Amino acid sequence: MEIHTAEHQVITPSILYFGTPVVLLSTENGDGTANLAPMSSAWALGQTVVLGLGAHGQTGRNLLARPEVVINLPAPEHWAAVERLAPLTGYDPVPPHKRGTFRYEPAKFGAAGLSPLPAELVRPPRVAECPIQLEARAADVRPDSTDAFLIVEAHVLRVHADPRLVVPGTQHVDPARWSPLIYNFRHYFGLGPELGRSFRSETRAARA
Ligand SMILES: Cc1cc2nc3c(=O)[nH]c(=O)nc-3n(C[C@H](O)[C@H](O)[C@H](O)COP(=O)(O)O)c2cc1C
Repeated sequence: MEIHTAEHQVITPSILYFGTPVVLLSTENGDGTANLAPMSSAWALGQTVVLGLGAHGQTGRNLLARPEVVINLPAPEHWAAVERLAPLTGYDPVPPHKRGTFRYEPAKFGAAGLSPLPAELVRPPRVAECPIQLEARAADVRPDSTDAFLIVEAHVLRVHADPRLVVPGTQHVDPARWSPLIYNFRHYFGLGPELGRSFRSETRAARA
């Protein structure tokens, strides 16, 4: 292994998005229509997905009032659709800190060029193009310690997977076939080739 001997530099980056998967959260607006928003502060803990949301976004507002959500996982090829959603908010009027950068858009699916598909256990729709969709209920929505964000614990109720991603005859997603879309310091990436597997993996390595 290469050994780095250079000293690290102390820096003050404006953001700390060190490379996490992008999810598209569909939630229900007060008038029954659907909102759709990209988020990358998402991670799984057993059957719970923890989400970090801006406190003044429509997604957080919806989840406080109507806790159902679909956590849709786009693939790398969907990055341009995700980016079409990036300057939009379903919050009307646009909150002061977003004015000039974001615009209000009530029809996010159409704006992104993505298709709604009814969910089975929750009211917000799935995103048909996303290969993995998690229907979930927000069991807890609470402010973070700065009051700038909401921390959401979403309990996953049902998982939908493109059959091409499922190891035949099992309940496993094939990690050699699935690739998340990664948000890496505000740039989009896919995964590189597999490096190895955890001792707890229940699926085979892509390359023996
Ligand atoms: C790839 C990507 C990842 C993002 N991740 C987050 C995030 O984790 N949390 C968050 O609050 N906003 C995140 N945003 C910004 C929201 O998408 C943005 O605030 C949006 O206006 C929220 O929409 P809403 O107000 O309709 O909920 C992200 C944006 C992009 C494009």
